[in-house]
Amino acid sequence: MTTLIKNGRVIDPASKTDEIKDVLIENGKIKAVEKSIETKADNVIDATGCMVTPGLIDLHVHFREPGFEHKETIRTGARAAARGGFTTVCCMPNTRPVIDSVEMVKMVIEKAKEVTDINVLPIAAITAGQDGEYITDFEKLYANGAIAVSEDGKSVMNARVARQAMRLAAEVGIPVFAHCEDKNLVARGVMNAGEKAKELGLFGIMNAVEDVIVARDILLAKNTGAQLHLCHCSTEDSVRMVKFAKEEGLKVTAEVAPHHFTLTEDDITTDDANFKMNPPLRTRLDVDTLKEGLQDNIMDVIATDHAPHHKTEKERPFAEAPFGITGLETSVCLTMTELVKTGVLTPMQMVEKMSYNPAKIIGIDKGTLLPGKVADVTIIDPDDEYVIDSERFASMGKNTPFNGKKVTGRVRYTMVNGRVVYSYRDGSECIIDKDVPKL
Ligand code: DOR
Ligand code: ZN
Repeated sequence: MTTLIKNGRVIDPASKTDEIKDVLIENGKIKAVEKSIETKADNVIDATGCMVTPGLIDLHVHFREPGFEHKETIRTGARAAARGGFTTVCCMPNTRPVIDSVEMVKMVIEKAKEVTDINVLPIAAITAGQDGEYITDFEKLYANGAIAVSEDGKSVMNARVARQAMRLAAEVGIPVFAHCEDKNLVARGVMNAGEKAKELGLFGIMNAVEDVIVARDILLAKNTGAQLHLCHCSTEDSVRMVKFAKEEGLKVTAEVAPHHFTLTEDDITTDDANFKMNPPLRTRLDVDTLKEGLQDNIMDVIATDHAPHHKTEKERPFAEAPFGITGLETSVCLTMTELVKTGVLTPMQMVEKMSYNPAKIIGIDKGTLLPGKVADVTIIDPDDEYVIDSERFASMGKNTPFNGKKVTGRVRYTMVNGRVVYSYRDGSECIIDKDVPKL
């Protein structure tokens, strides 16, 4: 089985390639990337005018299975990934039950294998039940396929437990993905603290809620030698502290979510819970600093924090609705529109932050188009303009503040193991599910 991708702008950070080239895929692997490949192939894809990149990797998604299948399942989440250009996603453990045991890690891996070709990699909880007390068995979890540990959704509040977890993680060699939010400081906050919250009569979440845990965790990483990845950074001082950590030579990386570089608290115009997420939308100063951090490569990764919720949950008043928005199907177009088209990031940096760096952080042999590697490939038309329509989302979660937003940049093909799992051709879309053996 061979596929030939013709005339695309191949962007591969591993070989520093940014050139019009052809890509030949054979038996699920990259066979050759060359100026002009003249060979007979089973499939030929014309990528003229498109970027051809290593398959995108999202380090931070919430698929709600088990326990909250009314919000999303592994199958629907994986379909959303395919539609969004992602070939690999890492799913957070805040399901019910929590993914805190080898059995649960195996369950996610097995279920994903059954329903999708997308690589679904589980992240295990730091403490049993995410209760913040008893540290899980990192060694066994890692050996059985958990690619990181995280308490995402909340922080490990007890600094002694957090330190012990980082010490064990350093020993095992598993990365710690930190959700930074001081539970006591956040109190009843639901949106950024400031004038806007006062105007809307809502309790605020100060930047310090995030900053104090970012500072603590960086210092604990220094103390223990742990590999620390800071999730969904939203504040000016987070960027400054990540810069400090890098200058200190610590193994610290950080991610920014598309909504945090696209919107500010001032965009919350109505009582619309699709603008409610954790951490919250911040100020112009925070957004500008996040963008600078991305541009200067202080911030390593763009990750979505894809957090689907049911319509009825998000229809509740702002103060009562759950935190979180969907992200998988708007990440490419928002990054393109807000960062690449505006000159904040080069296309190469976009690929670094959405594929190459994520692969490095979790230590997987992906995020590149080098010959011999698995053919996970994303093809993006950077110039296609359209309006986001959440009703077309493959995700069960339609909870996005971006419905109706005009954007530029569209995923044309997503390929996993050399197989097309999503295509957009002549205005019609197709998600190709895994071949399920007939009973
Ligand atoms: O907005 C959020 N939603 N932030 C989180 O940290 C958790 C997530 C969720 O699970 O819904
Ligand atoms: Zn999250």
